[in-house]
Amino acid sequence: MSETLTITIDGIECTCEKGEYIYDVAKRNGIRIPVLCRSDAFPDHRACCRICIVEVEQRGRTKIVTSCVYPIDGPCEVRTNTDRIREERAVIYALLGHRAPDADLIDKMSRGLDMSGFERLVRIDGEKCILCGLCVQACDSLGTGAISTVMRGTDKKVDTPFDMPSDFCVGCLSCANVCPTGAIEYTQTDTTRTIWNREFDLLFCEECGALMGTPEAARHAVGEDGELPTVCDTCRKKKLADEMMHTYRYV
Ligand code: SF4
Ligand code: FES
Repeated sequence: MSETLTITIDGIECTCEKGEYIYDVAKRNGIRIPVLCRSDAFPDHRACCRICIVEVEQRGRTKIVTSCVYPIDGPCEVRTNTDRIREERAVIYALLGHRAPDADLIDKMSRGLDMSGFERLVRIDGEKCILCGLCVQACDSLGTGAISTVMRGTDKKVDTPFDMPSDFCVGCLSCANVCPTGAIEYTQTDTTRTIWNREFDLLFCEECGALMGTPEAARHAVGEDGELPTVCDTCRKKKLADEMMHTYRYV
């Protein structure tokens, strides 16, 4: 049976279950802890950016922990924005910011912190990716597995195998949409979409003309034997409602 505990976060009393992560309890109580590698779509994807560090005081001792993976095991006092945390967070922002100098989000999030003294860090010019892994997680969760992290050290990046157009990519944009820094680029014309070096035709609703994605993504969603959709969700529901109205009128 789970045990209910009371902790304080920034002076606010919060009730939680033993084993819950500090970040989740803070979020539920409207207390903001900055994060970069968290997405509600992938609740188990954590501990990649370390921006969510907080200070925990328990049994007379204070330590810094990664709040999104730190399970609460007893009453404690959590502080999310002390001088020490701000200092440590500045270091993490500096490391991420030098890894991905073109990721404007890092600049935005680190505003107000003392970001001086990091001039000796090496910048990877033109880079936006902070290697949070959310895009790979998104692709894996669809069962496509078209991208992964490749290379090592400063050369580490997210890519398709050998940087070639991948047969597994369906052009769904899940990776680009989940990326916190906008690092995954794609282009789109009236009829095509290009991502990860591969060009896809676009699929449009036969009724209203709305963009429905790519035929490859639609095929992946319905399976090999499934019927490819020809109308968008809105038109399908409207059609269904019309049919039902018609049926009821004549019974
Ligand atoms: S491309 Fe975006 S989502 Fe993927 S690892 Fe880099 S920052 Fe994260
Ligand atoms: S949000 Fe906790 S490590 Fe990224």
